[in-house]
Amino acid sequence: MELKVKIGKTVLNNPVCVASGTFGYAHEMSSVIDIKKIGAVFTKAITKEPRVGNPPPRIVETPAGMLNAIGLANVGVDVFIKEKLPFLAKMKPACFVNVAGTVADDYEHVIRKLDEHEGVDGYEINLSCPNVKKGGISFSSHPDETAAIVKQLRKATKRTMIIKLSPNVTDIAAYAKAAENEGADAISLINTLIGMSIDVNKRKPRLTNVTGGLSGPAIRPVGVAMTWKAAKAVSIPIIGMGGIVNARDALEYILAGASAIQIGTGNFVEPETALKVLNGITEYMKQNKLKELKDIIGKVQTA
Ligand SMILES: Cc1cc2nc3c(=O)[nH]c(=O)nc-3n(C[C@H](O)[C@H](O)[C@H](O)COP(=O)(O)O)c2cc1C
Repeated sequence: MELKVKIGKTVLNNPVCVASGTFGYAHEMSSVIDIKKIGAVFTKAITKEPRVGNPPPRIVETPAGMLNAIGLANVGVDVFIKEKLPFLAKMKPACFVNVAGTVADDYEHVIRKLDEHEGVDGYEINLSCPNVKKGGISFSSHPDETAAIVKQLRKATKRTMIIKLSPNVTDIAAYAKAAENEGADAISLINTLIGMSIDVNKRKPRLTNVTGGLSGPAIRPVGVAMTWKAAKAVSIPIIGMGGIVNARDALEYILAGASAIQIGTGNFVEPETALKVLNGITEYMKQNKLKELKDIIGKVQTA
């Protein structure tokens, strides 16, 4: 059975990956899950300078999901290279560093620094953090903005470059197309949807940041629909995510057109979710006598 997937220049052993911000820098998770069996690790967002993020409370549980307003808290690229990269470089699965910034030059700075070191397969460019005022979301305000930053970053690296899109837009296909036209190797989607929760006794928002990003099973139908729309618009691979907690959820994304998937919030509920999803996909392929994953990618019958 062939589960390998090619994303840009990188071959993943299987399509089941873990999502940025939900798996730390991988070493934190190494005692609770057999990391080498995962398709790829996507790190927490890395920025030019270290960030403490937003003041707490910055996480709230919601029906079938959670709201977070972490605000891109991270160690910054220099500490990342010194303290986190050595583990990631030795780790078996592919490693993509999630990159965030305020202006395009910030992203370029991070990429050029990381490009000087071995151990990184590529970058997931976060154009979609809803929780900081300038968390890249402006690059998702018009497809031309997406095109401009992808064009600039494409010149900065030959490594695999995945563009992570925001679901907080009206026409996801236009953004996916803009990224493809400027040389993106793949599209990942979706980041979180903007949400808000209010404590009615205090008459105050539950998050200090007021709004946050909604993730978990609640957003899965949005993610599946956006995967389907983007997959119809581009020929580069789509990495789908949003609310995947079991193999059936992952298969929905794959049938909608995703070549690989990421588990996010599911890792908080059950750290071994990725391996359970992988086993379930293998089981489904056996039952349906499928030899290759690509036999089902995008094969949802809509007519
Ligand atoms: C606590 C938390 C932190 C996150 N941090 C990042 C991040 O740093 N960069 C990023 O691109 N996405 C980040 N995300 C978004 C996830 O990677 C993913 O796109 C989203 O949560 C949808 O998937 P899920 O429903 O499986 O969680 C974060 C999500 C959560 C819940």
